[in-house]
Amino acid sequence: MPLIRPRFPAALFFAFLLLAPSLHARSGHDLYLENCSRCHGTGGEGLDPNPPLKNSAWVTGDPERLIRVVLNGYTGVIRVGEEEYRGRMPSWRTILSDDQVASILTYLRSNWGGEAISAGQVASVRRKTEGEPTTGVPSGCMGGGGMRHGHHHGMGGGMGCGGCGR
Ligand code: HEC
Repeated sequence: MPLIRPRFPAALFFAFLLLAPSLHARSGHDLYLENCSRCHGTGGEGLDPNPPLKNSAWVTGDPERLIRVVLNGYTGVIRVGEEEYRGRMPSWRTILSDDQVASILTYLRSNWGGEAISAGQVASVRRKTEGEPTTGVPSGCMGGGGMRHGHHHGMGGGMGCGGCGR
């Protein structure tokens, strides 16, 4: 096979960075890194003061309760394993689509247990919990999604919506 030597490798590289996100659907893992990892850790181990998702009964348990935490967020005392957490889990209702929530949660459950979650299940919980109060979007987020073009995913990875609010 002859070596292909593009004349402008840098230009091609940047074109790829711009095009890649719109060319293929993002996987649950990508979406997790982009939206969740800065608080819950790249491996779900939790980043103080945020709780781990790894081996959490919230993740592996009742799908409806899990979907609801992600859509509406959560504040108050939350217990994961032996620890209690008092933080603010932001609301993803206006940021992530049913498909996106389903693929993130399916990714998490494929790691730590629980059957897959479908976009249909997310849609039904979304309707059911429509009028409930939410904890608000993650700080720094524009909301609405679809404004992510041109974001680089180089160093550090997944800085989707700015820093980690407390
Ligand atoms: C800004 C930080 C932040 C981001 C970003 C964030 N979370 Fe959370 N999350 C929290 C905090 C804090 C809690 C605990 C809330 C409490 O103490 O009441 C929590 C709780 C949870 C819980 C229930 C408790 C547990 O540990 O199992 C789940 C499940 C969860 N988050 C999933 C996600 C998913 C999925 C995403 C990405 C779509 C995400 N979180 C993004 C901060 C965050």
